[in-house]
Amino acid sequence: MTKQHKRTTITSALPYANGPIHIGHLAGVYLPADIFARYLRLKREEVIYIGGSDEHGVPITIKARQEGISPQEVVDRYHAMIEQSFREFGISFDIYSRTSLPVHHQTASEFFSKLYEKQIFTEGTSLQLYDEATGEFLADRYVTGTCPHCGNEKAYGDQCESCGTSLAATDLINPRSVLSGNPPVMKETTHWYLPLDRYTPWLKEWILESHKDDWKTNVYGQCKSWIDLGLQPRAVTRDLDWGVKVPLEKAAGKVLYVWFDAPIGYISATKDWAAREAGRDWEKWWKSEDTRLLHFIGKDNIVFHCIIFPVMLHAEGSFLVPDNVPANEFLNLEGDKISTSRNWAVWLHEYLTDFPGKQDVLRYVLCANAPETKDNDFTWKDFQARNNNELLAIFGNFINRTLVLTDKYFRGKVPPLDTALTSSDIETLNELSLFPGKISSSLDLFRFREALNELMNLARLGNKYLTENEPWKVAKEEGLPRDVSPVADEPSFTPTRTGNILHIALQICASLSVLSEPFLPFTAEKIRRMMKLGPLAWDQAGKRDLLSAGHQLDQPAYLFEKIEDALVEAQVEKLRRAPEKTAEEDTPAVLPAKGSITYDDFSRMDIRTGTILAAERVPKTKKLLRLTISTGVDTRTIVSGIAEYYEPEQLIGRKACFLINLEAREIKGIPSNGMILMAEDPDGKLSLVSPAGDPADGSTVK
Ligand code: MF3
Ligand code: ZN
Repeated sequence: MTKQHKRTTITSALPYANGPIHIGHLAGVYLPADIFARYLRLKREEVIYIGGSDEHGVPITIKARQEGISPQEVVDRYHAMIEQSFREFGISFDIYSRTSLPVHHQTASEFFSKLYEKQIFTEGTSLQLYDEATGEFLADRYVTGTCPHCGNEKAYGDQCESCGTSLAATDLINPRSVLSGNPPVMKETTHWYLPLDRYTPWLKEWILESHKDDWKTNVYGQCKSWIDLGLQPRAVTRDLDWGVKVPLEKAAGKVLYVWFDAPIGYISATKDWAAREAGRDWEKWWKSEDTRLLHFIGKDNIVFHCIIFPVMLHAEGSFLVPDNVPANEFLNLEGDKISTSRNWAVWLHEYLTDFPGKQDVLRYVLCANAPETKDNDFTWKDFQARNNNELLAIFGNFINRTLVLTDKYFRGKVPPLDTALTSSDIETLNELSLFPGKISSSLDLFRFREALNELMNLARLGNKYLTENEPWKVAKEEGLPRDVSPVADEPSFTPTRTGNILHIALQICASLSVLSEPFLPFTAEKIRRMMKLGPLAWDQAGKRDLLSAGHQLDQPAYLFEKIEDALVEAQVEKLRRAPEKTAEEDTPAVLPAKGSITYDDFSRMDIRTGTILAAERVPKTKKLLRLTISTGVDTRTIVSGIAEYYEPEQLIGRKACFLINLEAREIKGIPSNGMILMAEDPDGKLSLVSPAGDPADGSTVK
């Protein structure tokens, strides 16, 4: 359930300050967060939008070593670059802070101390990889080796990027130090662990029960998988010298794990924001019961924002936990995964130079194509098509026609609305009034694509209205424009049918200037300037009297221009110069492998092939099917949550595999006896698992 709230704290993932921002970051995280923040501001709600750079972590120190500079120099360079590109792109942070600031070190350090004093951590001594040549422990990305799960020879000490498994450095086969290239030795070290396992009951209740209906299915599904797989204690300290020092005497030479300190960066950034102006209070944004906390992130950050950070906040005791975490999937580029190392990306700072003044075109395309429920693809062809056929042909064209005609017939003065309205006028005005509500309902559910499409529908409504009413023809009949002497210059106050039509079209333009602001802030600003409109609130949009008769408009100018083939071809050409990709980068992410079990554990499951004899929907449910199964052993009923993936008719007669000795239980009042096996992909999509040949029902699966 979304809670009743008085104010909203919006955060977007703190990007690592070791490289520039690309379109994948924008589409997944910063653009939706920005749209949401702008929308709430227009609704005159209390809102703060927090951002900043994540300046710790091993990739930053590795980069510094490679370039022979200090980690601080690395982050200074990228922090400045990232901040500037966000600003130019119109990402409207209230603060863009950074985790190398003293306020952050202090906040993170105090957070650790508080948990330490509350005895939340467990302390553990273990053998870790150590590079004798350099005298350093090898955490995370300082070691590479062979992945024990998939055999990828270039897995890192924290993760195998080929199979997606999260690893401990000691899991690697044939480990090598990234520093010296030598095989490491084992050396004893002590670390502090956050015992996530102890918080499983709390997480189950908080996520699996109370957020079942309001969190996005991709987010909820990933959380459920993590929880079902069994949570393990996580080390929150590292043997490194770049990061927030562990505030314990016995922990000399240790820093907080980057994923422990970085999310605390949201809190430090809020303090940084508060300190910049008198009268600002940071605490209510993190502690007041009437504050709603929202984290905008990409799907690779889900476990940290839905499980680890909330456990930290909950354990600390005085902070709120997030109300929602609207994570997006990934954006691909021209059919391939975006890859920083291969330079297969569209970099924001380069876009801003290559397409000056076209921020809104990219904002539009990335939002229209946002990877909201599944991975999506950005192509330069689509970019061009959406600019030419949508922004220019629909949105820009409507506003331009309306303003040009008003200029022509009424010298840019808003003509009066005649009292006699036609049914087309009335219908159009009625429809107009529904748009703020429609767009709001989509935005409130974080459906940004749908919201943007509704915005375009309003421009479509305007175009349809002009086409139906043909003011250019009516004007001829009415003898417009009329010659008026410069002295008695009030042509707009004689009611005409042309004036009526343009008056209504202008009111639509005024509404568009408000409703487009979250998505297309630069365009909205241009419209406001051309129409000489003051700042309007969201709830004023849709009204028929945003402009009064006689209001003088400014000269119309084009909002968008056609993008020619050559411009996008040059971009595609630039991409083609990217280096070839290696095979391992091609594999899709999968869930981490589970811990090992004995053969006995496995053999206790009685899995059989069988046939689905009948299938029907369970009334009043969206997901459930009632299946009648021939298991070879007997005929029985199984209730299964697969109705979103299969129609009953598709299943009848199909062979599948069944776990037949699962304890019987009642689902929606129907006794269900066993389970049908399904393959679930990382996005939560289910597919039937069927035997390849034609084994008799009751054959054992082993
Ligand atoms: N730097 C991380 C990444 O790019 C995100 C950190 S989000 C925070 O994946 F919450 F930890 F700040
Ligand atoms: Zn692997």
